[in-house]
Amino acid sequence: MSNVHPLIADRRSPRAYSDAAVSHEQVMTLLEAARWAPSAYNVQPWRFVVFEKSADTAMFERAFATLVPFNQSWNWNAQVLIAVLADTLTAKGTANPTASYDAGAASMSLLLQAHALGLAAHAMSGFDGEALRASFEIPERYAVLSIISVAHHGDVASLPEGLAERERAPRERLAIEKVAGFGRWI
Ligand SMILES: Cc1cc2nc3c(=O)[nH]c(=O)nc-3n(C[C@H](O)[C@H](O)[C@H](O)COP(=O)(O)O)c2cc1C
Repeated sequence: MSNVHPLIADRRSPRAYSDAAVSHEQVMTLLEAARWAPSAYNVQPWRFVVFEKSADTAMFERAFATLVPFNQSWNWNAQVLIAVLADTLTAKGTANPTASYDAGAASMSLLLQAHALGLAAHAMSGFDGEALRASFEIPERYAVLSIISVAHHGDVASLPEGLAERERAPRERLAIEKVAGFGRWI
């Protein structure tokens, strides 16, 4: 990954979390980073529902319960869950075709800011979006896209064996030739 900025090169989706508290100020910095993402027509269709374990444990547990069992299995020390949503409609009530794209950009800003703060942050689609919608009365026009868990980095050895191995494995990506064509389709 030569020439890529370390903030991007060194970010990963960690699963080894410690039980150290993530401060409300840190959470606000993550949201601040997210809201400076670019979006089509600057519509800013991203929305976030934030669950801080230390501030409201009951609500946090309700959000945690929507995670699939696999994600629950490594998130026991997660301190914050951030549900990422996108407003699928424009002010005129028509479909916004870039809502998910823009919310994805905001999510990446949030993940990179977390990494810059030395925090562990991990996006997940493994959760029951309709359960989350019902539990927190989220209107239909907002697509529930992901939940990002946030914590301080923990000890890899504390993870179940299979997951510890995955944590130590090198990150992998498709080669540039497989994802980018120059002046022609790939
Ligand atoms: C939209 C989205 C959904 C994901 N869902 C999950 C998930 O449910 N559980 C999980 O353990 N990781 C999940 N991941 C993390 C990916 O597995 C991870 O980003 C990918 O393997 C690349 O690894 P890296 O982020 O460490 O580079 C998700 C990532 C994204 C962007």
